[in-house]
Amino acid sequence: MSVAVAAEANDFGATVSGVDLTNLHDSQVEQIRALWLKHQVLSFPEQRLNHDQLAAFTLQLGAFGLEPYVAPVRDHEHILEIRREPDEAVQPFGASWHSDWSFQPEPPAATILHAKIIPPVGGDTLYADGYAAFAALSADEQDYLKTLRALHSARRPYSHQGYQAGGGDQRSMTILPSDSALEIVEHPLVRTHPETGRQALWVNAVYTVGIKELDEDVASQLLARLFAHSIEDRFVYRHRWQTNMLTIWDNRCVQHCAQGGYDGHRRVLHRTTVAGDRPFLRTA
Ligand code: SIN
Repeated sequence: MSVAVAAEANDFGATVSGVDLTNLHDSQVEQIRALWLKHQVLSFPEQRLNHDQLAAFTLQLGAFGLEPYVAPVRDHEHILEIRREPDEAVQPFGASWHSDWSFQPEPPAATILHAKIIPPVGGDTLYADGYAAFAALSADEQDYLKTLRALHSARRPYSHQGYQAGGGDQRSMTILPSDSALEIVEHPLVRTHPETGRQALWVNAVYTVGIKELDEDVASQLLARLFAHSIEDRFVYRHRWQTNMLTIWDNRCVQHCAQGGYDGHRRVLHRTTVAGDRPFLRTA
């Protein structure tokens, strides 16, 4: 079986066909890893995986990440079901720009999302390239940003007052708000990717709540500018889903944002994460 790769603009995102994710040779796993590092977001159409097969594929890329604040599917503590029903009034899960679980001391390297039911309209996922966003800044600003440490927290969505905590019966996903969401974790604002060695702008509007070295107002202004910069159209790839498509993305250099636009239709996907390392910035 030969693997075919169709890359998106600027090589950010690629569709991979000619491979069966339930039956991979070691060399194919290596090939997928290399493609993932190069393109940051990979999609694989026509992959029929049950929960066990999704878990097994995830483990071929690395250990499972930790999944807080959302109840997993029964009998699979590492699989979340991203579900929205036709009549659900709350905003879609993941509908603001973020990098998955960036508030963890060791946030996940990868997220894997497998589409079970995709609406005929809407429900795309947008991805933003953190390498390109950083590279587009002036050299002076790059140098300045490298001196800063960003503060990350899960409080906006997952504290007891968080915006995901509400919704109650109207929400088909079970959110588990907690006081642990108030904890703050520091990460470099510019991150060196541990495998590619490239540098990425690494802040996101959901989980980055401040900057260690700056007063709150100054930090808020700078973060607002960086958030807006990092999701400019020139850095964004819009992913259109198909049922049975599986997507992998690299949280170490990519942000994403789920889109709505499918009220009246059901959307169901299953998600795992692959464990990552503590973010660092290599300056030498
Ligand atoms: C997520 O943020 O993990 C969900 C993305 C999506 O449903 O498109």
